[in-house]
Amino acid sequence: MISYTLITGASGGIGEQIALLSAQRGKHLILVARNKQKLEQVASNLRDSYNVFVHCLDYDLSHPNSATEIYSLVQNNMWNVDVLINNAGYGLNGLFSSHSAEEENTMLQCNINSLVALCSLFSQPMIQRGKGGILNIASTAAYTGIPYLASYAASKAFVKNFSVALHAELKQFGVTVSCCCPGGTATNFFDRAKVDRSSMAVPLQSPEIVAFTALEGLESKKALTISGWYNAIMVFLTRILPYQINVYVSEQIFKPKNK
Ligand SMILES: NC(=O)c1ccc[n+]([C@@H]2O[C@H](COP(=O)([O-])OP(=O)(O)OC[C@H]3O[C@@H](n4cnc5c(N)ncnc54)[C@H](OP(=O)(O)O)[C@@H]3O)[C@@H](O)[C@H]2O)c1
Repeated sequence: MISYTLITGASGGIGEQIALLSAQRGKHLILVARNKQKLEQVASNLRDSYNVFVHCLDYDLSHPNSATEIYSLVQNNMWNVDVLINNAGYGLNGLFSSHSAEEENTMLQCNINSLVALCSLFSQPMIQRGKGGILNIASTAAYTGIPYLASYAASKAFVKNFSVALHAELKQFGVTVSCCCPGGTATNFFDRAKVDRSSMAVPLQSPEIVAFTALEGLESKKALTISGWYNAIMVFLTRILPYQINVYVSEQIFKPKNK
């Protein structure tokens, strides 16, 4: 039976690079994102270059039923997913009170609820087989409250804490759960979140390097990785400084400049 790596958010940025590295390692892929055209472009390059099977599923993970629909489709096709990579996610920058409750919930559905549902569904067959891997992409934003990016940062704190707990639970069944926290990375993230990338305190990493670090963390069965030494220092500082300082510094970085 052919085994697949399922990657969400594979139409660009970090997810596309994870797909590329996985294909280079000979993995067959199931790619998920909303933009079918971009997914097909990524898939066609990978099929041509690395001779792997690549299936494209255009789903919006902000829809509450998307995870169960993806799982049913995978089961019906008898695709055996031995690695699940939850990478899809996005941020909403600006005053929390300027976003509607629906905008916030739509983001949290994608960043948290669909991720949890995919972990829940796909971990069952992994547990039965006694092997498998789950990689969740959080963020260094997980380590502090961030004004003007409040629920995004909180959603990533959820992903990080959920993942390290799941790592401890699932290792007894032969399933590895790993979480990678990237810092600022040069992708479309900033445009979608409407964050000014020039205001970031440290240099942006390339999505290629983040993808490599994340996969390396999964392969070496690490519960948690932080991509980039300067991001690791930033995280260390957030852990030793009083939270008021972390929140103040974050506010200076993420406060929209026209305020
Ligand atoms: N870039 C950074 O500075 C940074 C830092 C820390 C953590 N991260 C995290 O890294 C992950 C990848 O982000 P990125 O930087 O690569 O951003 P990106 O270039 O904007 O890519 C995001 C990917 O997620 C997909 N996606 C977004 N919303 C979706 C939805 N509702 N349903 C299905 N797919 C969706 C996008 O595809 P479609 O648009 O085709 O749906 C795209 O493939 C995210 O979880 C992000 O929070 C990024």
